Amino acid sequence: MASLASKLGFLAVLLSLVATGIGERSDPEAYVTLLYGDEFLLGVRVLGKSIRDTGSEKDMVALVSDGVSDFAKDLLQADGWKVELISLLANPNQVRPKRFWGVYTKLKIFNMTRYKKVVYLDADTIVVKSIEDLFQCGRFCANLKHSERLNSGVMVVEPSATLFEDMMRQVNSLPSYTGGDQGFLNSYYADFPNAHLFVPNLSAEIRNSRPQPEMERLSTLYNADVGLYMLANKWMVDERASGHPLHPRPP
Ligand SMILES: *[C@@H]1O[C@H](CO)[C@@H](O)[C@H](O)[C@H]1NC(C)=O
Ligand SMILES: *[C@@H]1O[C@H](CO)[C@@H](O)[C@H](O)[C@H]1NC(C)=O
Repeated sequence: MASLASKLGFLAVLLSLVATGIGERSDPEAYVTLLYGDEFLLGVRVLGKSIRDTGSEKDMVALVSDGVSDFAKDLLQADGWKVELISLLANPNQVRPKRFWGVYTKLKIFNMTRYKKVVYLDADTIVVKSIEDLFQCGRFCANLKHSERLNSGVMVVEPSATLFEDMMRQVNSLPSYTGGDQGFLNSYYADFPNAHLFVPNLSAEIRNSRPQPEMERLSTLYNADVGLYMLANKWMVDERASGHPLHPRPP
């Protein structure tokens, strides 16, 4: 009897180990990218490989809109991406470059509340050196680029439902100089050019003795760490994707 009980106990331990293994255990931190169509599939695959090559074992989440094929999703999954289907967030700007119609979708990373912190990387970026220290950054971190504007190609975000809802409330009223998410974020984080510079690897003592900064500026060093290139004016948006009614494909 005792032996049966201990065997059952052993079995229970085994079962709970198995359950932990296949359960919903998720790293509280993740790398995230966004894919609107299959054009940048290779870019995302290379990005994923470059993240893994730095030794990172964090979750990698690819948010994909329905313009992405099942073939592409399968490949990404096999590469180790967690693939999540998202619907496009309509662009409220009536006058806007055509290529920006789905770009507000990027704001959805602020709604990924099952993660404490996410490092967002555009599908056309590649990591050339570990950037894990970015997860220590404040609630919102980005690079300042030309003319003191924040660039939304690389961002560190602490997802929050309250923050996301607040953004959604203002999406129709705040101006966006680009007609896309980057312009909106520059309006939303209007004070961003005054944010302090993020200092990586501060001692835990210093870090824990101060409130978490709302915003921090990433050093231009991260432009070197993160080999970021924007294909001139190309925003990974497939105009044909998801049968968007506003832009029927010309015959
Ligand atoms: C934001 O996240 C919540 C919780 O996961 C979800 O119910 C909601 O649909 C999301 N909102 C948008 C606009 O995606
Ligand atoms: C921060 O510390 C990590 C781990 O020790 C190291 O890999 C990384 O290069 C450091 N970052 C900087 C900017 O010093």
